[in-house]
Amino acid sequence: MEVIILSDPGRIAGLVADAVERRVRATPSSVLGLATGSSPLKIYEELIRRHRQSGLSFADAHAFLLDEYIGIPRSHDQSYYSVIRREFTNHIDIPAERVHSPNGESDDIAGEGARYDESIRAAGGIDIQLLGIGTDGHIGFNEPASSLRSRTRVKTLTEQTREDNARFFPSMSDVPRHVLTQGLGTISESRQAVLVATGAAKAEAVAAAVEGPVSAICPASVLQLHEHAAVIVDEAAGSALE
Ligand code: F6R
Repeated sequence: MEVIILSDPGRIAGLVADAVERRVRATPSSVLGLATGSSPLKIYEELIRRHRQSGLSFADAHAFLLDEYIGIPRSHDQSYYSVIRREFTNHIDIPAERVHSPNGESDDIAGEGARYDESIRAAGGIDIQLLGIGTDGHIGFNEPASSLRSRTRVKTLTEQTREDNARFFPSMSDVPRHVLTQGLGTISESRQAVLVATGAAKAEAVAAAVEGPVSAICPASVLQLHEHAAVIVDEAAGSALE
């Protein structure tokens, strides 16, 4: 696992955008794994800028989201289906039907995970997976004690994660309790994984992920076993590293 500490979030965005750009220019039909939340927003801004100003095209690319809430419709402004379109994919040339996300409105929610994993496989697997990290060490929404080999499935959010995400909803009671998330096994199959974190609130989780034991208690620690993973943080998020 490569760990890179940079002085500011703009440089993190530039470095990760470089990695995505290299993939997409080398293989236009690349499969991108996309995270939502605050952490990747500057990366998406930078990729949109490169699309507009230097002709970086995603016309042949595929995208798969990490996760989706259960209990709010896709039309809700905080569904990840809506968020990724608003923040990123509506502003580039990727065809809308190639932006995939787990269907939190499925009539067969228990079967949705296996269907989602199969659609990732059918697309050829994820070439580059972008990740944020929760303050409790989650990636995707694999909360502490998630199996390191887990597949896409339903999970219950911890109160900590619901509190962290309450800023996106009118009140705490509006934050969904359940999600569909790619599993740690699913995420581990990506060919390249890039986790980004900024701010002191992530420092303990980053240190546990990078320097702690590989353990289900810190789900992000599974990236220590990944053959091509990078953790890119600012100085605040890296401040608890030895
Ligand atoms: C979002 C996701 C989560 C977030 C994490 C950090 O799709 O999978 O793991 O990356 O909760 O969220 P932010 O970036 O908002 O701090």
